[in-house]
Amino acid sequence: MHSVSESVKQLLSGGGKDIPLFKVFMPESVMEPLRQVLFSGYIGEGPRVEEFEHQLTGWFGNSNVLALNNGTAAIQLALRLANVGYGDEVISTAMTCAATNEPILAMGGRIVWADIDPWTGNIDPKDVARKIGPKTKAIMCVHWGGYPCELDALNAIAAKHGIKLIEDACHAFGSTYHDKPIGSHSDFCCFSFQAIKEMTTVDGGALTCRATEDCQRGRLLRWYGIDRHAQRTDLRCEADITEYGYKFHMNDVTAVIGLEQLKYVGQTISRHRANAARYDETFKDLPTIKPLRYQKDRSSAHWLYTLRVKNRPEFMAYMSKAGITASQVHARNDTHTMFGEFHRPLPGVDEFTAEQVSIPVGWWLTPENVAYIIETVVKYDRR
Ligand SMILES: Cc1ncc(COP(=O)(O)O)c(C=O)c1O
Repeated sequence: MHSVSESVKQLLSGGGKDIPLFKVFMPESVMEPLRQVLFSGYIGEGPRVEEFEHQLTGWFGNSNVLALNNGTAAIQLALRLANVGYGDEVISTAMTCAATNEPILAMGGRIVWADIDPWTGNIDPKDVARKIGPKTKAIMCVHWGGYPCELDALNAIAAKHGIKLIEDACHAFGSTYHDKPIGSHSDFCCFSFQAIKEMTTVDGGALTCRATEDCQRGRLLRWYGIDRHAQRTDLRCEADITEYGYKFHMNDVTAVIGLEQLKYVGQTISRHRANAARYDETFKDLPTIKPLRYQKDRSSAHWLYTLRVKNRPEFMAYMSKAGITASQVHARNDTHTMFGEFHRPLPGVDEFTAEQVSIPVGWWLTPENVAYIIETVVKYDRR
């Protein structure tokens, strides 16, 4: 009998015999730069973080980048920069990690759920438009599995009402929308470099801002509101702190891991995409198992490959018997007790939740693994 932590480890990092749903990518080449920074005498936020941010600007097509200690911090900082405060409403999606929505509560905000498109998992702009009210301060969207939301429509709604659009792009590093990278489209865009993401710093995150002033303010707020570059006569930070901040900054140790990961992540994402393309091709005509429906004007980095199946427990058991991990990723948020007061009908979330299941798609799959997964899914479909 496995302990809980062993079974979770097996599910998340390929510690077991099954083909895993996720796996930590960590190149051996990280060891030397890591050793250097660890013994350099400076391991806090410093030149390596600056270098990491500089390199990220290319990936995001945006020079307003803040490296942070995780994706949840990026979301909370974005909400703060959007001036979401006590009693303000944020329209958000329930089909995501709790980390998307808990920061709204942390800011004293109220959540108004908008429904999703049950064939993408992404927030439905038409429902967002219906949910706008006098207290709405921001819209939060999540690119499910890496597939970008309807950003033109969401940005148009935000602009019309003078509110902010925040993208939770924690699944979507390397995705593009209308040929431009995710990170360059909206007021704020939040990324996670948590352990099992395509690009990891063990834990880490980043925030991109459309406005340079927001980025400058965010740079202060990520470290207690203190300007790290202000002139000092001794070690104290003497300059006046004008508004409270957080301890959300990245450090040079995690930045060094990130810098090393950036050398590989393009290749990693290409492998996710190539595997997904093989699945798309084979699964598009299956009678009972349905892939999600994607448009060609955007490209997912495919952190996930999600299918819809009528009888998920049976499908998962079938895949498990074949040695392939298949699982739901994220529980719908609206049914959690902490969000109880925001409850409302969400038929798209109901439909998606009833059938969604993700199968392995990542860089760790060999061509034989991919062929075997396809064969197993097709066999299940025809059984
Ligand atoms: C959609 C989504 N949002 C936010 C987060 C939080 O990111 P982090 O774990 O880096 O805080 C995650 C984490 O996996 C996520 O999947």
